[in-house]
Amino acid sequence: QLADSLYIINNFAREYFSNTLFNTEEGQNVGLSYFEERGFTQETIRKFQLGYSLNAWDAFTKAALAKGYNLEYLQKTGLVTIRNEQPGDNYRGRVVFPIHNQSGKVLGFGARILVKNDRAPKYVNSPENEIYVKNRVLYGTYFARHAIDKLNECLLVEGYTDVISLHQAGIENVVASSGTSLTQHQLRLIKKYTNNLTILFDGDNAGVKAALRGLDMAIEEGLNVKLVLIPDKEDPDSYVQKIGAEAFRQFIADNKQDFILFKLQISMQDAGNDTTKKSQLVNEIAETIAKIDKTEDFTRQQDYIRQCSQVLKIDEQGLINLVNKFIR
Ligand code: UTP
Ligand code: MN
Ligand code: MN
Ligand code: MN
Ligand code: MN
Repeated sequence: QLADSLYIINNFAREYFSNTLFNTEEGQNVGLSYFEERGFTQETIRKFQLGYSLNAWDAFTKAALAKGYNLEYLQKTGLVTIRNEQPGDNYRGRVVFPIHNQSGKVLGFGARILVKNDRAPKYVNSPENEIYVKNRVLYGTYFARHAIDKLNECLLVEGYTDVISLHQAGIENVVASSGTSLTQHQLRLIKKYTNNLTILFDGDNAGVKAALRGLDMAIEEGLNVKLVLIPDKEDPDSYVQKIGAEAFRQFIADNKQDFILFKLQISMQDAGNDTTKKSQLVNEIAETIAKIDKTEDFTRQQDYIRQCSQVLKIDEQGLINLVNKFIR
C-alpha cells in the first residue's frame, strides 16, 4: 500500500539524517554544533530524532535508490526532487525535524536552513501527500500526549523549536501549530486528551492576531481557552533558554489569562468612544458566550456574562437576553 511505502521511506530518511548528524564530519561540525549552540542537549536531539542533511547534490537520493526505493514515492515524500531532469536531495545543508503522528510514525519533515537569508525559506516542510495532511497534524503530539492527559492541559506554541526547548525544560504537555492558525481537526485532536487549551504566542501583533483567529472555533469545540503572551522579540524557545525552566514556569503561572476576557479587553481599547463599534462588540461577545455549551458548563457561561458585562459597562440582564438570542 502507498501509505505504508511512504512511512517506510520516511523512517529510512529519519535514520539516515540522524546517522549523518552524529557520524559524519559535516554532520558533527555543522548540524550538531548548530543544535548545541541552540542549547539542545544530546538527549533532546535523540529524543526528537533530529538530523542533518548533507550539503550535497544527491547523497540521500543515492542511498535511497540503492536501497531499492521507488523514485516516484521518494518524490511524493518531498525528500527527493527533480532538478535539471536529475533526481536530487531536497533538504541539502539543513537540519531536519521529523514530524511524528500520535503513535510515533514519521509523517514528514521540517528542514531548517542554518543561517537565515532572503533567498531561501527558513523552513522547508514536506509537501502534502497520502500520509502528511498539514492541517490535521500538531507537531509534538507523540511526545506530549501522556503529559497532556495527566496534567489535563495542552499548551500550544508556534514552532518546532518551542516544543523541543520546553520539553528540555521539563514542560512536556506542549504541541505546535507550525505557524498556521488552528484548524478544527487540530482542535479535535487536542480534545481527545483535554478540554483545557493554553496558547503561548509571541506578544507581537502577528502572534496575537493568529491566536485570536482560533478563538471562536476553539470555544465552539468546547475548549476552555487561556492565553499567555510571551514578551516581545521572544518566543517560548528563546525565552525559556534565556530565563531558565523555573522562571519560565512561574512566568506562565503569573501571566495566564482568560482568552475571552483578553479579546474583550483589546476590542474595548480598539473601540474607544465609538458607540457603533461598541455595540457591535457587545453583539460579538454575546455570540461567543453563546457558544459555550450551557448544558455542559452552565456556571462558566454565567461567570463570563457577569465578567464581560462589567468590562463592557452594560447591564448583566441585558447581556443575558442578548446571549439567549444567539442560542439556537
Ligand atoms: P517562526 O518563524 O516563529 O520559527 O515560525 P521558529 O519556530 O521560532 O524557528 P527558529 O527558532 O527560528 O528555528 C514558527 C513555525 O512556523 C513554521 C515552522 O513550523 C516554524 O516552527 N515556518 C516558519 C515554516 O513552516 N516556514 C518558515 O519559513 C517559517
Ligand atoms: Mn513574531
Ligand atoms: Mn512568530
Ligand atoms: Mn524561534
Ligand atoms: Mn518563533
